[in-house]
Amino acid sequence: MRSTFIRIFTTALLSLAIPFLTTAQSVDDITPRPVEVIKEARGHVTIDGKAHIVFDKQFGAQADFLKEMLSAQTGLNLPAYPNTPDKPKASHHIRLVFDNKTIDKAEMYTLTVSGKDVTIRAKDTGGMVYGIQTLLQLFPLKQVREVKIPDVHIKDYPRFSYRGMHLDVVRHMFPVEFIKKYIDYLAFHKFNTFHWHLTDDQGWRIEIESYPKLNTISSWRKETLIGHFKDEPARYDGTRYGGYYTKDEILEVINYASVRGINIIPEIDIPGHSRATIAAYPELSTRPDTTWNVATTWGMYNRQNNVLQPNPATFQFLETVFKEVADLFPYEYFHLGGDETSKKWWKADPVSQQFIKDHNLKDEKGLQTYFVEQVAGYLAAKGKKVIGWHEILEGDLSTSTLIMNWGGEKEGITAATRGHQVIMAPGKPLYFDHYQSKDPNDSLAIHGYNPLDAVYNFEPIPAALRERKLDHYIIGAQANLWTEYIGSEAKVEYMVFPRMTALSEVLWSPAEKKNFTDFKRRLNTAIIPRYTFWKAKYFPNFEQWTADK
Ligand code: ACM
Repeated sequence: MRSTFIRIFTTALLSLAIPFLTTAQSVDDITPRPVEVIKEARGHVTIDGKAHIVFDKQFGAQADFLKEMLSAQTGLNLPAYPNTPDKPKASHHIRLVFDNKTIDKAEMYTLTVSGKDVTIRAKDTGGMVYGIQTLLQLFPLKQVREVKIPDVHIKDYPRFSYRGMHLDVVRHMFPVEFIKKYIDYLAFHKFNTFHWHLTDDQGWRIEIESYPKLNTISSWRKETLIGHFKDEPARYDGTRYGGYYTKDEILEVINYASVRGINIIPEIDIPGHSRATIAAYPELSTRPDTTWNVATTWGMYNRQNNVLQPNPATFQFLETVFKEVADLFPYEYFHLGGDETSKKWWKADPVSQQFIKDHNLKDEKGLQTYFVEQVAGYLAAKGKKVIGWHEILEGDLSTSTLIMNWGGEKEGITAATRGHQVIMAPGKPLYFDHYQSKDPNDSLAIHGYNPLDAVYNFEPIPAALRERKLDHYIIGAQANLWTEYIGSEAKVEYMVFPRMTALSEVLWSPAEKKNFTDFKRRLNTAIIPRYTFWKAKYFPNFEQWTADK
């Protein structure tokens, strides 16, 4: 009787008290781990609904972002005011300060909780966004009236300048609202680049005005394979599939990303992976008399013809389309693909062979390089630099091209030794479309085994480059998410979480601060609750599946 009374009483008291008396999340839980955290034992800053956000003019959009995020996370609705002499008064503030004196690195921020204020200092959008992300991790994930944030000083900046996540929207397409959610996931993890894989054999996913059949034909496939592409017999779902993002939708995503410090690299994959293109424009193929379909299966390399023929119409097409896409995307980098270009269709094509002779190219690899350099030239005229998958190094290539290496260390070392900047995206362990367990009942993946610890322990800089002092050629890394076997938003989340969180720490935190045991502790105490708050799926059995299993 008495204990029941106490329980009811206590519950009533707690439900009243919790909203008033909430302490912050622990600074020890911040992920990815910051460079430097100095805890000041003295006091705390109270943020309640009467506090104000005050921002320097460079950070108006980020003030709105903070306001929106804080409200969604805690229910605290703080007004935001520009930092002018006539701004309204408040006893506590969250200050977003532009500072290019004490902030001496790109994407750096400091976060100081002291006196009456929380102050974030940065000199660029990225730095301010990361400071805000860290601050949001100091607030609880629940509705509150006020929060006491213990005094602290954090100084933080990334280990690598390129921190990317890729998403293939061709094999399966995702709505604009989910693309924005994915960008929010990137921003939370202090990534700065979204690689948007927009074209491939199975579809075109971007509106193109100059070649409208890219949308009326190339954007649609007759049906989609069911199960694994190696299954016999192959089965199809019989349902037309496709679509594309309009230019307005793409601009909406670009603007959304830019507030969050995320650059977008579009990829138009040539001269292979072009089956959807030649389905609409067979005159660009090595067999112009053929009616091609948009691919309905996966794994086309060397199995089905998907290459462009080197002819005047093709180069006209490439120049027009790449320039049209370049006009849409503001970021200076553009990805032209260049992977898995089967040479056999060019070998069998007299026009391609004649082109190789006429242009004094060594062979089909030389032809591949010719394509890359032509497109790089069109893009250079638009002020863009190009990125290609590491196969573009099969020929002799100008070192201004950035190499995205999906091979192993060896390919990364080769590219860096030849003087290229390199983004490491090795299949093992950074293909997040690979399995994260060996459980035969795990959700279907393409193949492979990239468990969480393999991702966490990945070191982007090969020792051989460090020894030769060539480590600066490795500018960062990226995980790729190919979506042949990822047909839903929930499955995207299941495949990226928590591996993406592990990669964020590889790319952001100082190598000596990494600690897998502590990382898993933070996953459990702070990050999984965050996935849950997002209503995001994640792979829960990461403790059980390790690289040595
Ligand atoms: C790739 O996985 N073909 C880049």
